Amino acid sequence: MLKIAPSILAADLARLGAEVEDIRAAGADYVHFDVMDGQFVPNISMGIPVLKSLRRATDMFLDAHLMVDRPVRYAEQFCKAGADLVNVHVEADEPGQIQAALDRIRSCGKKTGITLKPGTPAEAALPWLEQVDLILVMTVEPGFGGQRFMADMLPKLRTIRSWIRERGLSCELEVDGGVDAETAPLCVAAGADVLVAGSAVFGAADRAAAIRAIRGIE
Ligand code: DX5
Ligand code: ZN
Repeated sequence: MLKIAPSILAADLARLGAEVEDIRAAGADYVHFDVMDGQFVPNISMGIPVLKSLRRATDMFLDAHLMVDRPVRYAEQFCKAGADLVNVHVEADEPGQIQAALDRIRSCGKKTGITLKPGTPAEAALPWLEQVDLILVMTVEPGFGGQRFMADMLPKLRTIRSWIRERGLSCELEVDGGVDAETAPLCVAAGADVLVAGSAVFGAADRAAAIRAIRGIE
């Protein structure tokens, strides 16, 4: 089943608990939590204390997207703060250290994910395919919400979906950046089964209608 993961980067962060309650009532499946360190990406968002507070405010599935250099340094802290899944960028460190980060996340009993930036080829996912719970394909350059969807990432999604299918894996395929009611069907047709949407959900007056539209229900 298609899952919708609103990115709270686009929420009113002064009212985070209420915003998350609102998207739960609106039919969201995951909460997408964007962490930016000002190094890996040219922006700073939120981190461990905010995640900890959010964990106390909701039992929704928290999908932490670490746009952070050398994420092995913080993987365990994000798990302990309450993430259900911790996602690291393959570009953020050398493979041995990415493996170490994934091992730490798993040993905390949490789900693992890897993310590919737009310039990173599908093949970069191959070494991780069999071990991760989720693969995230960025459809914008990470760092900011509200950017335009890059349709030239669709072949990458299709390729990774075909590998998942051929190998009979259960890992989810998530897409992040510029997803709205127009671009969501393209992502789903290319094999995505988790859609992150920031501005398209939090920017809508009727968030339940926005989520239904992204699901393609009306
Ligand atoms: C971008 C973030 C995204 C972003 C998506 O670096 O990873 O999760 O918040 O926002 P929209 O849906 O507005 O493109
Ligand atoms: Zn994200």
